[in-house]
Amino acid sequence: MAGMPRVFVTRKIPAAGLQRLQAGAAVTVWPGELPPPPDILRAQVAGCTGLLSLVTDRVDEALLDAAGPQLRVVSQMAVGVDNIDLGACTARGVPVGHTPGVLTETTADLAWALLLAAARRVVDGERFVRSGNWKTFDPLHMLGLDVHGATLGCVGFGRIGQAVARRAHGFGMRVLYAQPRALAAAEAGAARHVPLASLLRESDFITLHTPLNPQTRHLIGAPQFELMKRSAVLINTARGPIVDPQALYAALHAGQIAHAALDVTDPEPILMDSPLLQLENLTITPHVGSATLQTRDRMAVLAAENMLAGLAGARMPHCANPQVYATV
Ligand code: DGY
Repeated sequence: MAGMPRVFVTRKIPAAGLQRLQAGAAVTVWPGELPPPPDILRAQVAGCTGLLSLVTDRVDEALLDAAGPQLRVVSQMAVGVDNIDLGACTARGVPVGHTPGVLTETTADLAWALLLAAARRVVDGERFVRSGNWKTFDPLHMLGLDVHGATLGCVGFGRIGQAVARRAHGFGMRVLYAQPRALAAAEAGAARHVPLASLLRESDFITLHTPLNPQTRHLIGAPQFELMKRSAVLINTARGPIVDPQALYAALHAGQIAHAALDVTDPEPILMDSPLLQLENLTITPHVGSATLQTRDRMAVLAAENMLAGLAGARMPHCANPQVYATV
């Protein structure tokens, strides 16, 4: 321990990653079930050389100031880093690690699970049976939507969007994608690049896979819901604030779209008095896109590897602000 760099880890993480980290650092793990409140986080990180963060921790100028000038590495156990002020980290020469790749297929699996659950009313059916309402086979009851042969629209077509598209091809779906840059044919496969408005008009299922940034905040709001089919299903496994929650409520309540299936919300967790929770045509899970035993192990190990590389002054395997290497 003596002489090892001090690292603060903001939550209990899988043992595989923690043990890897402990081999090269003096590690303190926040023991709480909830994230450390900002004042406690500031106090804990003071004097540390490394911070291992989660999406629930705000890493901003105030936290970097509180940490002190010896802070050399932030390593986040997540692919998304919208909770981190990357510019402030770069300006201080602090590389920020993240965990792309290892959670792609797992997150795509959850998007697919939500899509199927919404289309085939799995949660409705479960509620119906458990509440004692199943009296007979009914030709007109619990009618859902066909997934096979339908059109899927991917808003954002990076690793996870493309992984969802692969699943869609297995279901014989037509796939559209919208993002600023069209992919080369080899990467896009059978998916077609279209403007966002066309995707919203033509898709039966719309799945969101963009990072959250100033351009994508409320990317899906009232004008976008107006373009969607009344039978459309919206799936969000990316970040809650990509969707304007008021506009979403209005669209679901008015039947302007058929259903939404959300793994992420704004705010997070969703408030228990949110009107969204009153709606039958909403399916919701608690930000568990990457939550499998295998994937959380891989994320923790990669977060540890990013941290150890950063502490050693080496280039991280996955750095979210690679421009930092040009400035140090
Ligand atoms: C991520 O990796 O960004 C997820 O949202 C948390 O696993």
